[in-house]
Amino acid sequence: MTASIMKAIAIISCKTLALSASILLVFVVLLFSNQQKYFQTDIFQVTTRKPHESTTNISHLVFGLLGSTRAWHYRKPYIESWWRPNVTRGFLYLDTNPTNDLLPWSPASPPFRVSDDISKLLKEIKHVAPIMARMVHGVIEVFREEREGVRWYIMGDDDSMFFADNLVDVLSAYDHTKYIYLGGHSECYMSNQIYSHDMGFGGAGLILSYPLAKMVQKNIEDCFRRYPYLNSADLILMTCVNDFGVSMTAHQGLHQIDLHGDISGLFSSHPKAPLLSLHHIDHIDPFFRTMDRSESAKHLMKAANVDQSRLLQQTICYNRKISWSFSLSWGFSVHIYEKIIPRSILKIPLETFRPWSGRFKPPFYMFNTRPLSNDPCAMPHVFSFDSIKKINDHEVLTNYVRMAPRGLPSCGLAGNHSADMVSRIEVLSPVTKPNQNGKTECCDVVTADGMEVAKIKLRDCTEDELIA
Ligand SMILES: *[C@@H]1O[C@H](CO)[C@@H](O)[C@H](O)[C@H]1NC(C)=O
Ligand SMILES: *[C@@H]1O[C@H](CO)[C@@H](O)[C@H](O)[C@H]1NC(C)=O
Ligand SMILES: *[C@@H]1O[C@H](CO)[C@@H](O)[C@H](O)[C@H]1NC(C)=O
Repeated sequence: MTASIMKAIAIISCKTLALSASILLVFVVLLFSNQQKYFQTDIFQVTTRKPHESTTNISHLVFGLLGSTRAWHYRKPYIESWWRPNVTRGFLYLDTNPTNDLLPWSPASPPFRVSDDISKLLKEIKHVAPIMARMVHGVIEVFREEREGVRWYIMGDDDSMFFADNLVDVLSAYDHTKYIYLGGHSECYMSNQIYSHDMGFGGAGLILSYPLAKMVQKNIEDCFRRYPYLNSADLILMTCVNDFGVSMTAHQGLHQIDLHGDISGLFSSHPKAPLLSLHHIDHIDPFFRTMDRSESAKHLMKAANVDQSRLLQQTICYNRKISWSFSLSWGFSVHIYEKIIPRSILKIPLETFRPWSGRFKPPFYMFNTRPLSNDPCAMPHVFSFDSIKKINDHEVLTNYVRMAPRGLPSCGLAGNHSADMVSRIEVLSPVTKPNQNGKTECCDVVTADGMEVAKIKLRDCTEDELIA
């Protein structure tokens, strides 16, 4: 398809030259050509699956998780929250043999392997970061063991959650027979600046198509030799991949979480992209404030196990009569604002969190944020995911409960309608995946005003519907 367009451009260009017209004309022709969209597709490297091949499913994915025996004692619950024994393929790579208290090995954990001893090689080439090299070497080790029917290798850390159904959905849109390196940027501007803006941050997951993984495992020891001074596993992998002519494709659903503190602002205004991973669980507050980190991971997976396609997806609707905005992050939170606020504002995360390092100077983040304040018209009432139930063949009910009073007066500017009495919110969503037409979903507020329990119902947006 692209080739014929290139031919068309060539023809246009030749004619233009022959007519001695200005280059501007070529631009004008291209601009008004309805083939413009193909150029955009090329830029974003979105390649679709070949028609004769089966759809990608979970058996085509292999995880290589890098961990340590010491940390496994407390990180095990994070991995077991999402790992599906005998369904998800892959291994946990440990630095040493597991200690007796970890044996017999839990059947709910990924099977373990002890990483290859590559100390001789690293000493010989005077590598500065043996631990980092060991992590990259994991690509060789997982490739050696799992090749049959594999389309994608996902390298990650032992303190990361992965959302396998969403990974399958997202990866099935790419051509796994090409050289593809998918990753995520850091949320912190300085982390990208210090390492690289073109690097996938490893804890969020580094996703290699089969041909790329094959190339990397064949050449990684050479990469160690060429760059013995690189002190980050992600940087070693990026450099190796870049030098073979492949660049990173960033995905907004992969989360390195180079942040500290309360992550809820980011989770409540997640980008419009399927959630693929969450990293650095130990470095942030528990996702749910009444639970510890392990319980929080399990709790989030209750929603994820029913519907990953909507997990953390933001849906906004209004009760216009009393000027309230509802902002749902499915499976995580609902916010009520006592004012009609458009999606263009509500999609900006509230800055509940802090940057990775206290020494960083602004700009801190790779995205805009809304500051926290005492303005009753700008601060939400917060409700947290509590329970989920499939109520019939086509609907799922999620429940969100208030954790604390907001502690602010009502928003006088918008009619003074306090939401203080709302204690719980019920959300109805379809069992089917959201429409993939490029829009978010919309919703309706279905309860009468002033009730203790508010109800909202998700649906497709109508053609001209404004979320404002
Ligand atoms: C995944 O697809 C393969 C074909 O490539 C098929 O043999 C296999 O049964 C499928 N597995 C699942 C879990 O759907
Ligand atoms: C996984 O497969 C093994 C061997 O086929 C079996 O012994 C084990 O019970 C299975 N585990 C689960 C959790 O299904
Ligand atoms: C809002 O209500 C409070 C008391 O509930 C009242 O003191 C205030 O004057 C009201 N503001 C407006 C703008 O109506």
